[in-house]
Amino acid sequence: MVKSKNIVVFASGTGSNFTSIHKDIKGGKINGEIVLLITNNDHCKAVEFAEANGIKVSIINKNIISDIAKHEDFLFRELESVKTDLIVLAGYLKMIPLNIILKYKNRILNIHPSLLPKFGGKGFYGMKVHKAVIESRETYTGATVHFVDEIYDNGPIIMQKKIEVLNKDTSDSIAKKVLDIEHKLLPYVVQKFCSDSIILKDKAPIITGDVE
Ligand code: GRF
Repeated sequence: MVKSKNIVVFASGTGSNFTSIHKDIKGGKINGEIVLLITNNDHCKAVEFAEANGIKVSIINKNIISDIAKHEDFLFRELESVKTDLIVLAGYLKMIPLNIILKYKNRILNIHPSLLPKFGGKGFYGMKVHKAVIESRETYTGATVHFVDEIYDNGPIIMQKKIEVLNKDTSDSIAKKVLDIEHKLLPYVVQKFCSDSIILKDKAPIITGDVE
């Protein structure tokens, strides 16, 4: 029997990906528990959801984030206090300090709303990604879940789902369709992680099965 995983979610906004993971945990699909939400935005919907569902919330303020040593120290303490097995970045808009990335190597997942490496890296977040996809007249776009490494949106890709970009699509319609895929893709990868089913071979993650 695989040990149940302690999951820490980082989110800064709506938190729809956070809630999609929570739903699959409550539905018995994921062998884990969300033990903490970390946010830089105490007014966001993710916080409301966490509080309404009895999930502990930790808020990092600007003063901590602007001091690298304090930032690392704060996160180390918070993550250790709940015996973190997995970190999920679900719409988190701040950088994770390098020493945290190194300590939790291959245990930090990020979801990005494009088919990385396309439309990733600094400056590509939120609607900027979808606008760039429309402007470049891409035939496909989608979502990517990857392990986080020291470079923005660069770590090993675990799984991607793609959708067709139709002539009538706008950045808004694409944003909606991509978010729908994210809500299936991210819980699926979390589920696989929590059942120890993501295998690293030659540094490349291998995952079995497919999203329903
Ligand atoms: C998602 O599109 C995700 O890919 C990106 O930020 C957005 C977060 O949305 N990293 P939500 O807060 O989960 O609704």
